[in-house]
Amino acid sequence: GDVAYSFPEEVKRGSVIENIAKDIGIEVGKLATRKARIDVDRNSKGYFEINRSTGDVIVTERIDREGLCGKKSTCILKQELVLEEPLELHRISFHIQDINDNSPQFKKDTIKFEISESAAKGSRYRLDEAHDADIGQNAIQGYSIETNEYFRLNVIEKGGGGKYSELILQKELDREQKKELTIELVATDGGTPQRSGTAVIHVSVLDANDNAPVFSQAVYGASLLENSPLDIVVITVSATDADEGVNGEVTYEFDHISDESYNVFSIDQKSGEVRVSGPIDYEHLSSYEMQITAKDGLGLVSYCTLIIEITDVNDNAPITTIKSLKNPVPENSPPGTEVGI
Ligand SMILES: *[C@@H]1O[C@H](CO)[C@@H](O)[C@H](O)[C@H]1NC(C)=O
Repeated sequence: GDVAYSFPEEVKRGSVIENIAKDIGIEVGKLATRKARIDVDRNSKGYFEINRSTGDVIVTERIDREGLCGKKSTCILKQELVLEEPLELHRISFHIQDINDNSPQFKKDTIKFEISESAAKGSRYRLDEAHDADIGQNAIQGYSIETNEYFRLNVIEKGGGGKYSELILQKELDREQKKELTIELVATDGGTPQRSGTAVIHVSVLDANDNAPVFSQAVYGASLLENSPLDIVVITVSATDADEGVNGEVTYEFDHISDESYNVFSIDQKSGEVRVSGPIDYEHLSSYEMQITAKDGLGLVSYCTLIIEITDVNDNAPITTIKSLKNPVPENSPPGTEVGI
């Protein structure tokens, strides 16, 4: 008759599986005289031995189910018990049961994403699948992520078995608030005890140009002495943009500016420095008002007002003009008579 034994993988060398003498109905005492042995094909490896004085089938090698059978759902080692005089063969099937000796594993420790902050709620991002060399319940059963405000996890069963997961955006990202997120992803199997494997999801939030430059003041005021030399810096306006790169590069220019101001002031596009570029004459104009725009790389704009008050300088000597003059003055004119203005 044939016999079948079932036992878990990775049992210790020397472990007794069963007593075969009983199972095939032979007296223990005859095992030795009939040269009982477990035979294997020339190409296979022997994993078992029979103790001729007891009939016990003993494990002699490490038995790794994953190494022998991979993902096959049943793993059977077929061997033969040989007895001589007379020759007798009994097939023995060893069913190797899976134990949960492998942990789920991700191919990479880090799963990287670059997601624009303008990504819509509900956007999905597929995550790498984890693998577990074990089978059935001992293989991957589920995934979970560390709780966070931006993403939730959706676990999907594949057609041919196995599971993977995806991130679903549930709150809009904002690079200005958070540039990077790291979230732990855990894959768990269903064995006892349960084993798990982790990977870190690393999300870089890409900048969308969602911020216009902001001036440090809505209105800038400056005072300037008239006759100030050319190129002197009157004031520096400054706008900051919370975006990065080209989205945050601010340039300045005059917006609404009268011809009078245009000839008198210039602004540095990059630095925001407003300089004197023409003659400043208090007597000509005592105050200038102009609009300045700050524009970022992709064209978002904001405005500020610059008021420059010109301070009078004593650059003019009094000039005497004669408005009327009585001439000649009669000799009998009394004191106090007006003679001229
Ligand atoms: C067979 O089993 C007996 C009894 O347990 C033991 O004393 C003996 O050493 C075993 N022989 C071998 C070859 O393992």
